[in-house]
This record gives sequence, structure tokens and C-alpha cells, in this order.
Amino acid sequence: MTGAQMREEFLRFFESKSHKRLPSSSLIPSDQTVLLTLAGMMQFKPVFLGEKSAPGPRATTVQKCVRMNDLENVGNTARHHTFFEMLGNFSFGDYFKEEAISWCWELLTEVYKLDSTKLWVAVFYKDDESYKIWQDKIKFPVARIVKLDEENNFWSAGPTGPCGPCSEIYYDFGASRGCGKPTCGPSCDCDRFLEIWNLVFMENNRDEKGALSPLPKKNIDTGMGLERISSIMQGAETNYETDLLWPMIEKMADIAGLTVDKKKTHEMAKERYKSFKVVADHSRAVTYLLADGVIPSNEGRGYVLRRILRRAIRHGHLLGVKKSFFSQIAEKAIELGSPVYPELKEKKDFIIKVIRAEEENFSRTLDQGLVILDKMVQNKRIDAFQLYDTFGFPLDMTQSIAREQGIEIDVAQFEKEMTEQKSRARQAGISNKAEGTMGGEIAVQTDEEKQSMARHHSATHLLHAALRQVLGTHATQAGSQVTPDKLRFDFPHYQALTKSEVEKVESLVRAEVQKSDPVTISEMGFDEAKEFGAMALFGEKYGDRVRVVKMGEFSTELCGGTHVCNTRDIGEFKIISESAIAAGTRRIEALAGEALKKYVAEKLAKELDVLTARLNQLNKINEHIALLSKTKQEAVTLTTEEAKKLSGEELAVKNAELAEAIKKAEKELQKLQQEAVLAKVDEYLKDIKKIKELSSLVLKLQDVSVDQLKALAEALSMKMGDGGIVFLASAIDGKLLYLAKAGAKAVVSGMNAGELVKKAAQLTGGGGGGKAEMAQAGGKDASRLGEALKVVEEEIKKIAG
Ligand code: SER
Repeated sequence: MTGAQMREEFLRFFESKSHKRLPSSSLIPSDQTVLLTLAGMMQFKPVFLGEKSAPGPRATTVQKCVRMNDLENVGNTARHHTFFEMLGNFSFGDYFKEEAISWCWELLTEVYKLDSTKLWVAVFYKDDESYKIWQDKIKFPVARIVKLDEENNFWSAGPTGPCGPCSEIYYDFGASRGCGKPTCGPSCDCDRFLEIWNLVFMENNRDEKGALSPLPKKNIDTGMGLERISSIMQGAETNYETDLLWPMIEKMADIAGLTVDKKKTHEMAKERYKSFKVVADHSRAVTYLLADGVIPSNEGRGYVLRRILRRAIRHGHLLGVKKSFFSQIAEKAIELGSPVYPELKEKKDFIIKVIRAEEENFSRTLDQGLVILDKMVQNKRIDAFQLYDTFGFPLDMTQSIAREQGIEIDVAQFEKEMTEQKSRARQAGISNKAEGTMGGEIAVQTDEEKQSMARHHSATHLLHAALRQVLGTHATQAGSQVTPDKLRFDFPHYQALTKSEVEKVESLVRAEVQKSDPVTISEMGFDEAKEFGAMALFGEKYGDRVRVVKMGEFSTELCGGTHVCNTRDIGEFKIISESAIAAGTRRIEALAGEALKKYVAEKLAKELDVLTARLNQLNKINEHIALLSKTKQEAVTLTTEEAKKLSGEELAVKNAELAEAIKKAEKELQKLQQEAVLAKVDEYLKDIKKIKELSSLVLKLQDVSVDQLKALAEALSMKMGDGGIVFLASAIDGKLLYLAKAGAKAVVSGMNAGELVKKAAQLTGGGGGGKAEMAQAGGKDASRLGEALKVVEEEIKKIAG
């Protein structure tokens, strides 16, 4: 049977027992006690607790699940996964143990037709009732029934909530696969016994103190791993040779230029097969998480996704694949999963785009990080925080590499440094909590400031709603700051907004302002507010009573802040900047109303100032040029017309006077020209390129003298600091001048001003050189200047990157 058939047979079987077939819920659970959906029962938790009515007395599902507790094992064993599918049947206060056990038996032996002599059963040691059902009703041989403790046979989804004793069914692969220990049995860690189905008798609720109380009704929750049961049915040695995962391994082998044989995986080197398994498993986790709206980030679910992705990329590298590969594996996973999970196909373009961006990002630092990690291993001291902070290595990835080398990571130290970094970020104003949602945070403010604050606050709600419309529902608030001067809004998104996206967001907000919708504020219970459609911020704590702020049909949010009375009071709205504050997190700054008018007026005034200053400078230069040529002319006139009338001495004095005047005027002119060049420093700085920790600026100038170049290089490198590299080229009087300057840190990184100017000079038929810190050279062939600058830029990139 194929995996697809197994799924279908399971659902049909339970439909024939009057179960309602329901769809899988999203991997993003509505239950906020867990980060990700980890079992089929998650969507029914409120039903078990009696908080929500049941969708019917019985249900059956195939549920997408992601579990991170097995991450380390994935690849090392035959059966562990991050993403897997769980087949389940549920009773909501309807049937109980007897039916659950009987139907389980019927499906395994009559539909799936497993060899019943290979099956073992475990029951909770206090659960005599289940033991008796297996023994008397099923007539299961007691020699293969084991009684296990709480740890093995009492199931709960988390520290609190619905739970209960369970009975598990195991498949015995035979002693040859086992560890051979006399204690080996179903609960053993070795590969002999495979747990295939877990029947939970959901009858208890555990509170915060750990105390158990009965649930309103007795329920059934069962879960069978589709990959595991498929491996048995398909005679596969591990889950990875089933038709659910093997196609991804084949694709990876294809990319890596390696051959794989489904029947001979045991002959492959263990480490190599591990990498194949990791790539295959992770390709499903990544695609399904992305399809459900998780976006890579450095926190929460987004970080779970990023960790899995990075781990997969590393294992691709271990298989010798250095170019981007993971999106191709993901495409395979999408192709396989789409018939059952159409969301994969719908979001395909988005999924591939995000994977490519993430892979490109991480591949850049992975190799470098591994070199550093290697050095750390040699010194027997691994700084996991540095690897995380500089190269983006997730802690678990560093841990597994370290473990391979027999080194343990100091996790406490890592966490300490993480906390310190977070608090630094907080002080710098990068907050993940919504700031200013509970009001009352403003000290004394004028009426206009208060109104401006309210405008920005209301505009934030509109911006939030507009972003979700334009970019997708993942664009939820990750942080915000509202002041009378402007608003700032952070949200997860994987790439910069395009110009047209920014314009769309702006026009949606403006349209809502135009509509003049009243802003209504009402108080209600939290649950009522959620039903009302209010957007609650994940991870925020809300009291029992919440304040719901509604702006027409456009936005409904929980918020305690001060708002305008009508959307038209927001006035004009404009996004003034859009940038990244961390990988996967964007920041928008925007202005509304009077603050926007003030901003525009100030900006215009500043521009006007700069232009006026430039104009004055040019005027002065022109005056001096005129003066200079007049003085020169006088000298010439004097020589030709009056020279004869003057004595030799008088002539000498006159000449000296004129020469002095010319020298002075020339000096003055030079000073002015230098000032004009320096006045453009800030403009030049806009062209700085960041490469890792260094920054570079390569400029092509016209008619700038050596002295001016020197002054300019000095001013630019002062502004750029230790990590700066400045390379200036000037075409003057048919010649080329080069001047380069490198800061101390840049020199330590291998940057050499002397080498840079030499390269450019050689290409343009000249020569020169100097020190690593500063150098000067000349050239003749201006037609090759563009080419020479390209070479210089490449060289800088090579050394800095
Ligand atoms: N909730 C149980 C499990 O996850 C059975 O579905 O194993």
C-alpha cells in the first residue's frame, strides 16, 4: 500500500464506524500553550475540556504535526521526524476503551493485514480494564502484553490540560534488529520494537499544580504515525525508504551526484545516510510550516523554522553540495503533499522564494563559521554565542557539531549572553512588545502633542491592517512605538517591500482616512473580543476585560491607547522609511497629520539651505577666478605698455607685487575649491557599501587636485571610522590621480591601500604605491578608468567578504 492509500483506508475505516472526517488543522495552533501543533488532539483540546461543543460524537483526521523534541534524533534513527502525519480517531464522550481497542485491532489485522504474531501491546500498569479487554475480548496472548509506568503509558499534551492512561501497539522486527539485552522489550530504545499506535483514554485534566481531576466526559484520542505504519507495510528498513520520504532522498542524491539504492541503504556510511535523512525530513517541516504562514525569524515559531532550515543546509554541505539546493528538495515535498494538502501548491511560489532567500543568506556565513568553529574545536573551547551572533549558527546545530567532537557547550553561558544582548537591543529601542498599548504612559503633553500621538496611534492600527492585506496575515505586529513626531512599526516579513507594495499600503490607509469612519471603543470579555474578530497580539498578556478599538470594517484590535474619534482626523499619511532591523523583521516609519506637514516643511527648508550654501560658494569661486585673471592681465598689460617707462628696480618691485597677488589669489581659490569638495562629504557618504564589518567607498571625481583628494579622503575616512576603506580617483588635466586610505580595522582584515592604487595604476598605464594605510598613484589612460575602478571594487569585496 502506498502512503496515500494508507491514509485513505484509515479515514474510510473510521467513517464506516460513524466517524466524521475532518481536515487537519494548521501547524499554528489556536491553543497558546504550545508553539506548534504536535498531535491530532490539539484542535479538540477545548472540546475535551468542555469549553467548546464537539463537531459530532466521533471524528477522524490526518493531522500535520511538528515536534522539536526529537530534533537531535532525526537522521540518527530509523523513525524520528520533525514533521510527520498522525492518523487519528476521536470520541467526544461517546465510545470508550472497548471500541477503541477493538477497532484498532480490526484495522491493523483485517484492513492493513499485519501479521498479528509480530504485534505487542502495552497498557498502563494501573489500567486493569484495558488489560482485560486485550486478554478476554481480543484474545491477545498475555505473553506479549506488558504493563508500563506513567512515563511510558500516561499521555499528556503538555504540563497542564487533558491527559489520560494509554495503551500502545508495537511491531516486533525480531531479535536480529534488537540490542540483545535481557531487559529488551517494547519500551527499549533499540530498533527492535516500533511503536505504531497510541490509544489515549482521555479522562483527566491536570492543573498548574500537577493535580488530576476528571474531565467532564470520557474521551478517546488515538494517534498512529503514518510514516511508521507505512514503513512496515512497505517492508522498508526505515521510514525514509517509504514513498513518503524516499523521493526527496533520490532528488538530493541527484543534486549531489551520488547514487542511492532503496534496498541497500544499510550499506551506506551511517553519517552520509544521516545527512540524506535530515534533508528529506526537514524539507517537509520547512514547506508545511511556510504553507501555514510561519515566517523565518529569530523568535518563536519563526526561529523553529529557521533552525530546521539551517540544519538542512548544513547537511547538504556535508553531502558536498555547496550551491543552493534546498528549494529543489522542497519542490519535491510540495509535489508529494499537494494532493492532500492543497495549501502547499497554493503557496508554492512564496515557499520557494523564502527558502531561496534564507539559503542564500545562511550559505554566505556557513563556511566561514565552520572554519572558526574548527579553530574553536582545536582549542577545545566553543563560543556558541559568537557562532550564533556572527554566523547565524543555531545553538542546536553548534551543539550537534560539538558533540561529534566530544565537546559539550556551556548552555548557561550562551543563555546569559543572549539575555544581555536582548537587553542591549531593548535599550536601543528594539522591542518585541507593543509599546504604549495600555495608555497613561505619556507624562505631560500639550494638546497638540496629545492629538498628534492619537493620530499616530490610530494610523498604526490602519497600517497594521493594510500590511496584512497587502503582504499576508503573517505581517503582524512584532513591536511598535508611537510618539507625537512619528510612528514606528516592526513586523515579520522575509524581504524588503517593493515600491508598489509601499504605495498600496499607503493608499489603503489613505482610503480608510478618506472614508471618515468613526473610531469606536468598547470593553468586553477576552473571548467575546476574539469572536468579534479582534486581533490579539501573540505573546501579549491581556486581562479578563479588554478594550476593543474598531475603525470601520477595516481594523479591529485590542488596545488600551488613546485614539482619534474619526479616521479623517488622522489627516495625511506617509511612509517615510522601510528597512530591516533583523533578518526576517522589517521596520516601517510613518507620519500622519500635522507631524507630516512639519516634516515636509523642515525637509524642504534643509534642502534649500544646502542649495543656498552651494550657490554662495560657487559665486565666490567665480569672483576669485575673475579677480585672478584680472590680476594676471594687469601683469601682462604692465609689461607690454609701461615696462619701458620704469627703471629696472621699479620693475622688479612691481613684478614681485604682482606675483605675490597672484599667489595669494590662487591659494584663496584652492581653499574655496577644497571647501566646495568637502561640502559634498555627506552626499558622497551615501554611496558607502557595507561588506560584513567593513565599509567601502569608491569614488570617481572630476578636476580634483591631489591636495583636495587628500583632504577629502581624510574627511571621509574620519566619518567612516576604523573599518572604512576610501578609494578616490580624479581625472584632471588629462591625467588620473588615485588616492586610497584604509582604517586600522580594515588593515587588520587584510586591506592594503598600496595594493589597491597599484592595481588601478597598472591598468591605466601609470604607477605609484604606498603603505597599507594610505597610498597615492597616477595613471594616463582615462578610457580604462571604469574598468580599473571595477577591479578595485572586486578586490575590496574579496578581502572584506
Ligand atoms: N495524543 C496522542 C499522541 O500524540 C494520541 O493521539 O500520541
